[in-house]
This record gives sequence, C-alpha cells and structure tokens, in this order.
Amino acid sequence: MADAPFQIRPAHDGDRLPLAVIFAAVAEERDGIATEPPIDIEVRAASWTLDGTLVAVAGAEIVGSLHIDLSRYGFGEIGMAVAREWRGRGAGSALLAAAIEWARERGLHKLTLAVFPHNEAAIALYRKFGFVEEGRRVKQIRRASGELWDTVEMGLLL
Ligand SMILES: CC(C)(COP(=O)(O)OP(=O)(O)OC[C@H]1O[C@@H](n2cnc3c(N)ncnc32)[C@H](O)[C@@H]1OP(=O)(O)O)[C@@H](O)C(=O)NCCC(=O)NCCS
Repeated sequence: MADAPFQIRPAHDGDRLPLAVIFAAVAEERDGIATEPPIDIEVRAASWTLDGTLVAVAGAEIVGSLHIDLSRYGFGEIGMAVAREWRGRGAGSALLAAAIEWARERGLHKLTLAVFPHNEAAIALYRKFGFVEEGRRVKQIRRASGELWDTVEMGLLL
C-alpha cells in the first residue's frame, strides 16, 4: 500500500469508540504498552480523556493516537499507539511532532514518557525527536504473566 498522508487533529467525542478499539488491540499484543487485556471497550471509550488527545487520521480512519497527561508542574506525560497495520508509515512521527507543537503552545517546559527497554521502534521514534534517556525503573511493571518489566524514562526539554 502506498504511503498515506496523515492528518493530525484533536480528538472529539465521535472518536471514543475507535480510540478504545485500537487501544484494546494494542493491549492484546502484550508488548508495547503497560495495559493488558481484558479491556472493556465500552467503558474505555466512555472514560477516554479527550482533552490532550491527538488522533492520526488516514482518509476517514483513525489509525493512532497520542495523549498528553498534563501535570501540575509544567511537564506533560505522553502515551501513544498506532494500529499495527499502520505502523512504519509515519503516523507516530506525525503525532509526536504535533504533540511537541501542542505542548510548546501551552507553555509546557518538558515532555516525558516511560517505555519498555525492548520497544526498539518506540525508542527510535522518541530519540529521533530529541528525547533522551533519563533513567531506568527496575522491575517496575508486573505483567499478567507474573514477569516484572523495567521501564526506561525519557524526556524532552522544550
Ligand atoms: C511506537 C509506535 C507508536 C511508532 O509508530 P509508527 O507509526 O510506526 O512510527 P513511524 O512510522 O513514524 O516511525 C518513527 C520512527 O521509529 C523508528 N521505527 C519505526 N519502526 C521501527 C522498527 N520496527 N524498528 C526500529 N525502529 C523503528 C524509525 O526510526 C522511524 O523513523 P524513520 O521512519 O524516520 O526512520 C508504534 O510502533 C506503536 O504503536 N507501537 C505499539 C504501542 C507502543 O509501543 N506505544 C509506545 C509505548 S511507550
């Protein structure tokens, strides 16, 4: 399939269901994000925090999203996911570029995130935009399997 141009825009109410469906599918991979199944899609859709969420749209289809959780202390914490079949085509880069602009416009001084050390695609994406590794939390996340996974903390000063 040819490279698709992605439109990045703030999420709105009608995006709740596709956002939750993508999130649940990514959770099923049990690899890149901390959340694991089971996910109640209806509940997740209803409780999605739209404020601070950007979506990547190809045609009429939502293919990924990024959320910035605003702290009270001037930084924002990022979480993001792109639908598996749309990865490697620039949606993640487009979302992150828009998020950095969004954060600068709001006067944040920093963006942060936590990523699993094995998540090479995500770490490469974050490094590409200037995020640096700031530390490692050891055995931070307990998986459903019982495994304990480290996280790498990354940050970008704006
Ligand atoms: C991480 C993720 C959001 C990246 O989204 P994407 O749309 O595939 O990203 P892009 O196509 O814009 O690629 C961005 C960069 O990542 C790197 N990259 C992408 N896929 C890669 C891979 N399989 N291996 C190594 N690096 C990769 C490249 O450096 C690429 O930049 P380039 O195209 O300029 O070389 C996506 O893989 C994803 O949703 N993964 C599952 C959920 C997840 O891990 N979320 C992050 C949690 S911290």
